[in-house]
Formats: sequence, structure tokens, C-alpha cells
Amino acid sequence: MKHFLTLNDFNRDELLAMIDVALELKYESLHIGNKPYLKGKVLAMIFEKSSTRTRVSFESGIFQLGGQGIFLSHKDIQLGRGEPIKDTARVISSMVDMIMMRTGEHSRLEEFAEYSSVPVINGLSDDFHPVQLIADYLTMVECGIYLQHSNPLYPQGGQEGRKPIVAYIGDGNNMAHSWINLAAILGFELHIASPAQYAPKADIITKAQHICAQSGGVITLTDNAQEAVSGANVVVTDTWASMGQEEQKEERKYAFAHFCVDESMMSYAQKDAIFLHCLPAYRGQEVSEAVLEGAQSRVFQEAQNRLHAQKGIMLYLARINQIPLMSVE
Ligand code: CP
Ligand code: NVA
Repeated sequence: MKHFLTLNDFNRDELLAMIDVALELKYESLHIGNKPYLKGKVLAMIFEKSSTRTRVSFESGIFQLGGQGIFLSHKDIQLGRGEPIKDTARVISSMVDMIMMRTGEHSRLEEFAEYSSVPVINGLSDDFHPVQLIADYLTMVECGIYLQHSNPLYPQGGQEGRKPIVAYIGDGNNMAHSWINLAAILGFELHIASPAQYAPKADIITKAQHICAQSGGVITLTDNAQEAVSGANVVVTDTWASMGQEEQKEERKYAFAHFCVDESMMSYAQKDAIFLHCLPAYRGQEVSEAVLEGAQSRVFQEAQNRLHAQKGIMLYLARINQIPLMSVE
């Protein structure tokens, strides 16, 4: 059983194949119409944290593919009252074809996957947000920034071998970790700037550095945001206080005071650099209103790409796990 718990579950070729499925589904959706590749399939979506984009993109996505999504808030299912993960996983997976789970500790997802008889997708954990990165990569391709493989549907993608510099400014959180994984697997340059006490986890960086040795990826860490942004093609940030860290909001505002992506910060990047943010954004904190709403921002294109990314992930997982599918013309 192949699950999608982190980007590291896939090698470069597998990840690019998954991304190709997403690109093709987006093309079909826009130019031909949605096709019911997952007709009759059921996706259970377990949310132990809030969500707008992840919920709507998975639910719309499975519907557009001919299947049905079931939204399960932890408040409404027995999991939230203490039913063990291993029992919940065995029961739900015996009734559906695929499961997406958003949770806190990443180990909860790993345990769920261990007991699930169907593929499990990480819809965000404290440590990783891999499905967001598929949408972010699609957005980069559409903006002509990066295309490691030639995809005839997106000829505007960057030329093979032209690697971008991505600058991630802010908290060393689940988004930072997933950018680290993507840079390592696909082999591009990632500059991370965060206050020293909020740097990404050392074990995740160490693992990524090993993958970089093969892929040609480069990952640098600094506490100087301007230095990280210098020459970047893509500037990314995320909230300073993630879900579950609400009580640290004030101390974090102080620690991250020099890490706001504003117009002055963006001026260090390439002139045609784009700005990405997984959203929700906190204007005046990690990003200024002017940058978020400005000409370089691609955040709403990025958010919309969650739909196509999620569809690509589900169809790719169904295919590689040999879930019986109806043939579609
Ligand atoms: N970016 C993202 O995952 O948004 P939601 O929390 O709204 O799902
Ligand atoms: N780092 C944020 C991402 C939200 C999509 C969080 O975990 O809350």
C-alpha cells in the first residue's frame, strides 16, 4: 500500500509523474471537461484541525472525478472522544477507497496509515504539508519558473536545467519542511530564513541534505531574510503561528519582527519573482497587504491549483495502488 504522508514517500520520477497527472487533469478540466476517472470511489476526509482550501479542494476534486467525499470532523466522530487511531483506521478504511487526514502530531498519521487498508493522504500535520507543495509546484510551472521535465501542455515552463532559487521566509514549520523535501527531491535551490529558535527541524534538514547530494539540490539556512531573498525567483512565507500555536502568537510577533515580506523585502528578489503563500495569510505580519495583493503575488492562482493538485494526487495514488477503475473515454 503506497500512502502519501510526506513528499519523501516518492522519488523524483514518481513525484514528476504525479505532477503530470495533475497538469493533465487541469488541462482536461479547462479545455475538455472533467472525466469520471474515480467513478463510484469514496474519499473519507478526517479533519482534526480547521481547513478551508484542503477541505473544499478534496471534496470538489473527488466529486469532479466522479466519486464522493465524506467530511469527518474529529468533533463528530468517536476519534475525538478517544477511540484509538488503530481502530478508527481499520473501520473507516474497510468502507472507503481512500482517506485524507489532517492532524497534529505526524505520528498520528503514520499510525493511521499503518492500520489502514486503503491509501492515506496527509492533508497537513504539524511537521508536513505535502499536498500544498504539489499545488505550489503547478503554480511555478504555470508561471514559467520551473519545469524539470518537458510537459507539452505547459510549454511556457522553464527550460530543463534552469533551476530557480526559492526563498522561504519565516517559521521553520510544516510548510518549510515540505519545501525542504521538494527542493531536495527535485534538486533546486532553497534559501530559508528564520529566527534561530524557529529554524526547521535539524533531522529533516539532514535527511534532505543526503537527498540533495544525489539530486543537485541546495538548501541554505540563515537568520537574515534579505540575504535569503537576494536573487530569488520565488518568495514564499507562511503564518508565524500555526494551528495549535495560538497561545504563542504574541511572542512570535516579536521574534519574527524582521521577517515580514513587504515591498522592501521583495526588492531584493529577481524583478520578475513571484510571491507564494499557502494561506490563510495574516496581513501586516508575515506579509504586507501590498505584496499579498500586488502584481507579483500568485496566491489565489496557487490556492485554486489546490483543486487540480488534489485530483492529480488521488488519481495517481489510485493508479499506483491498482485500485480497480472504470475505463474512461
Ligand atoms: N493552505 C491550506 O491548507 O489551507 P486550509 O488550512 O484552509 O486548508
Ligand atoms: N503552517 C500553517 C499552514 C496552514 C495551511 C499551519 O499549520 O497552521
